[in-house]
Amino acid sequence: MARSATIHVCSSCGHVEPRWQGRCPGCGEWNTFVEERAPAPAGGRRGGGGGGAARAGAGAARPVRLRDVQTPKLARLSTGIGEFDRVLGGGLVPGSLVLLGGSPGIGKSTLTGMAMGNVAGAGHGTLYVSGEESAAQVRLRAARLPGAALDVPVLAETDLDTVVATIEAERPEVCVIDSVQTLHAAELTGAPGSVGQVREVAGRIARVAKEIGTAVLLVGHVTKEGALAGPRVLEHLVDCVLQFEGERERTYRTLRALKNRFGSTNEAGVFEMRSGGLVEVLDASGRFVGEATRAPGSVVLASMEGTRPLLVEVQALVSPSELVPPRRLVTGLDRNRLALVLAVLARHAGVATGSADVFVNVVGGVRIDEPGADLAVALAVASAVRGASLGGDAPVPLACFGEVGLTGELRSVAHPERRLEEAAKFGLKGVIAPTGSGDGCREASSLRAALRVALPAAAPRAA
Ligand code: TYD
Ligand code: MG
Repeated sequence: MARSATIHVCSSCGHVEPRWQGRCPGCGEWNTFVEERAPAPAGGRRGGGGGGAARAGAGAARPVRLRDVQTPKLARLSTGIGEFDRVLGGGLVPGSLVLLGGSPGIGKSTLTGMAMGNVAGAGHGTLYVSGEESAAQVRLRAARLPGAALDVPVLAETDLDTVVATIEAERPEVCVIDSVQTLHAAELTGAPGSVGQVREVAGRIARVAKEIGTAVLLVGHVTKEGALAGPRVLEHLVDCVLQFEGERERTYRTLRALKNRFGSTNEAGVFEMRSGGLVEVLDASGRFVGEATRAPGSVVLASMEGTRPLLVEVQALVSPSELVPPRRLVTGLDRNRLALVLAVLARHAGVATGSADVFVNVVGGVRIDEPGADLAVALAVASAVRGASLGGDAPVPLACFGEVGLTGELRSVAHPERRLEEAAKFGLKGVIAPTGSGDGCREASSLRAALRVALPAAAPRAA
């Protein structure tokens, strides 16, 4: 009988079986088998895989002192979208693989379509591989976009061999694969989107990209749990992982780098989805502060989006609940941080939300992913519980930042000076911040102290 073309490898212990099994006989773990192409018979080279004894006859190689290693200057290709380039670290690097993750409908195809249009418009070779939509559907979207989006060659195809052969024939400078989960390697029996398939697709695309020097944008859907294409199987394979996020029904989107071999992971860009595609939002702080209310439960958070300060409004609503346990809903922030902040508020600051429903929302659909948001959540909730506006009857909204510790202390966060500068730029004075944050703010060492400053007149109310 002919050898099977694929093997199944346990992703936990590396045990190999010819056929898929539910439980690994090697380590006893369940559901760990991933299909892979069988290694070529002796002599053939195979990428990846573990080490092992040196092959007989393999000659030793000569290590080079780091000082003497040549570092080629990275030529970058601009996507024509400032925020996108900035998050990438200055543009696309030839031969590199960028994974762009995000939930369905967030705007991944729109962003890549616009970038490709700009690249094509600048006279570079492009290719848009769509495994998800027909060429006609891709055209319909491109017709809504500005620039040369309609000049981009499209290939509606799901067969990996055909895609790789087309890239080799066309030799584009930039190529989009939309999406990595829809391509299918014929040698593997797994369904498109399975871990084995996704890994094989990304691996083969990476190889051809390196060979030709094509910069590849791999689009990937994020699962409900927030993982990119299965259990993070692609992250080590690609040079750069970008996450496009926001609330689908809202207009704002943030683009963030989770991994970047050629730049910082601190950058983030803000976009707005309009009828003619995505528009960069350069004055996000001004917009959010302009829309901020002075009502109880509202506060401005002086946040950092990477290295850039961003002012956003955080709102809380606390209302009596019949449910056990009561609802704890949060949009744009980490759920677990809310639980922590509520516990600290109750235990160390005398603000109990006990059996009430608590809703916390970052206005505009932006996602904030930093501990500096804790104080804003705490103040918004306290203000909602007490039914009093923060900062008394000051004419401008109150702004704050700081991490809340488990003993009720306020902890300092990164870049206090830039946060304060941004707040001052929009006329927000008296920002409440952790001790040591610098001049021009009202420092507080604990959550209790911050509450005394923010809600001076509000008499404690029985919750
Ligand atoms: P899309 O890029 O297809 O999302 P993804 O590839 O991440 O699944 O776009 C998602 C939504 O954006 C879609 O519901 C329509 C909307 N949209 C606009 O509002 N304006 C536009 O110009 C375009 C092209 C799309
Ligand atoms: Mg899409």
